[in-house]
Amino acid sequence: MKKFYLTTPIYYVNGPPHLGHAYTSIAADVVARWHRLNGEKVFFLTGTDEHGLKIEKAAEAAGKSPKEFVDEITAQFQNAWKVLNISYDDFIRTTEKRHEKVVKDFIEKSNKNGDIYKGSYEGLYCTGCESFKTESEIKNNHCQDHPNIELKKLKEETYFFRLSKYQKKLLKFYDDNPEFLSPAFRADEIKSRVKEGLKDLSITRKDLKWGITFPLENGFVIYVWFDALTNYISAIGGADGKLFKEFWPTDVHIIGKEINWFHSVIWPAILFSVGIEPPKKVFSHGWWTVEGQKMSKSLGNVIDPIAVAQKYSADALRYFVLKEISFGDDGNYSESALISRINGELVANIGNFIHRTLSFTYNNFEGKIPKPDKLDKESMEFKEKIESIAKKVSPFMESFQFDKALNEILEFSAAGNQYFQKKEPWKTKDKTCLYLCANAVRSLAILLHPFSPSTADKIWKYLKLSGSVEKQKWDSSSELKVKSGQKINKPEILFEKVKTTQS
Ligand code: MSP
Repeated sequence: MKKFYLTTPIYYVNGPPHLGHAYTSIAADVVARWHRLNGEKVFFLTGTDEHGLKIEKAAEAAGKSPKEFVDEITAQFQNAWKVLNISYDDFIRTTEKRHEKVVKDFIEKSNKNGDIYKGSYEGLYCTGCESFKTESEIKNNHCQDHPNIELKKLKEETYFFRLSKYQKKLLKFYDDNPEFLSPAFRADEIKSRVKEGLKDLSITRKDLKWGITFPLENGFVIYVWFDALTNYISAIGGADGKLFKEFWPTDVHIIGKEINWFHSVIWPAILFSVGIEPPKKVFSHGWWTVEGQKMSKSLGNVIDPIAVAQKYSADALRYFVLKEISFGDDGNYSESALISRINGELVANIGNFIHRTLSFTYNNFEGKIPKPDKLDKESMEFKEKIESIAKKVSPFMESFQFDKALNEILEFSAAGNQYFQKKEPWKTKDKTCLYLCANAVRSLAILLHPFSPSTADKIWKYLKLSGSVEKQKWDSSSELKVKSGQKINKPEILFEKVKTTQS
C-alpha cells in the first residue's frame, strides 16, 4: 500500500487559533482525505510548538505558569480542529517526553558529526519570529513581520550549528529535487538567498528557561526552532521508530510562506547533519489579510474560525478558504465574500442540484431510484460527464490547485442543473434523468468529501448508500453505482441561504 505522510506546522500556543492556522490545517486535511480516498495509507501530523520566549512571556502576561498556559491553549487548538473536522492521525506537543528525547538525540548526533561548536553571539532577536534578524530584515528598529514587537538585543555565549557547511549540498539537493521547493515560484527566492551564503545558526539560549535543556552543557536551553522542526521525526518515533521506517520521508510539509526558510533550508541541513534523508516537498501557502488589512490583535480583526464555523458551518468555511484563493497565493478574507460563495455556489449550484434531484425522486418515485430508459443525446452526454469527472479533478488535487479542482466540481454540478432543467422531469417524469442525476449526486459526495466532509456524509445518508464516503475510492465517483430500485431517505436542505440586506 502506498504511504503518504503529511504535516502542518506545529502552532505556537501563545494565543488561541485564528483563521491563518485554520487555513493550513484545512488545506492539509483536504490533502489527507484525498490521499485516503486514493487508497493510500496516510499519516497526518499536526501539533503545538510550546517552548520559547514568546510563550514564556504570554504565560507571564496571563499570570500563569508556562505549563498551565500551554495546556489551556493546546486544548483550544484541539477543540478548533474538532469543530473544523481536521482528521489528523497524531497531535505532537513539544513538551512531551517522546519529543524531548529525539531533540536531544539530534543534538548529540549532530555534535558527533562535528556540526556543533561553542561561540558567542550578538544580535537583535525578534520574539515574534523567534529568530535573530539581519540588518536587511529590520525596518525602523522592528522586524518587518512584527512591527509591534520590540527587538531584543542579545549578547551571549551560545552553541552554533554549522549551517554554512551545507550550502553546496542544499543547492545540489534543490537542483536534484525540483519538486521540493513548492510552489515553483518560491524556489528562486530560497535558492538565491542560499547562494548568497549561509551563516551558522545559534541553537541555544542562556536567558531562557522554558525549553528543552541542552544535552552538551548545563545552563543552556535548545533554540525553539531546532526543537520545533524535530517534531516531524519525534512524532514518528525518532530515527529508529517503526512509524519512521514506514512513513519517512515526509511527502509534504504544508506551511505558511513566512516559515519557508526554516523548512526549506534549516530543516534539510539539520537532517543532513544527523544522516536522515530530507522531506520530499515543502509547500508554502500565502497569507490571508482580513477586509484588506493584516490580521492582528492590535487591530482587533483576528478571525476566530470556530465562530465562523458556528455561524456558517465548518464545511462552508473549509470550502471558502480553498476556493477563494489559489493555494500558494495571498488573499483576502471578508464576510461578504464568504456569504457570496455560500449563496452563489454552495446554495444555488451544488445544494440546488442535489436537493432537487433527491426531493423529486423522493416525492415522485415512491422514494426509489427509477430504472433508466434509453439514453438520448443529452443523457448520453451527462453520463459521459459522470464517467470522466474523477479524472478531470484528480490532476488539480495532486498539484494542490484546490480552487481549480473546485471549479471543475462546480461545473459538473452546474451541468447537472442544466440537464435537469432541460429534461423537465416535473413534466416528463423522465426516469433516465433522475437515475443519472442520483448517480451524479453520489459522485458529488465523493468529490466534496475532502473539502466538505459533513456535507458529503449527509448526501451519503440521503442516498441510503452502504458504508461511508471516506471509505470509497476517489475514482468510483465516476462509476454509476446508485442502482435503480434503491430506496432513498427524505433529503433535507444541505446549505442554508444566508440572508443579506440585498436579498
Ligand atoms: N511554531 C511555528 C511553526 C513551527 S513548525 C516546525 C509557527 N507557529 S505559528 O503559530 O506562528 O503558525 C504559523 C502558521 O500559521 C503559518 O505557517 C501559517 O501556516 C499559519 N498562518 C498564521 N497566520 C497566517 C495568515 N494570516 N494567513 C495564512 N496563514 C497564516 O510559526
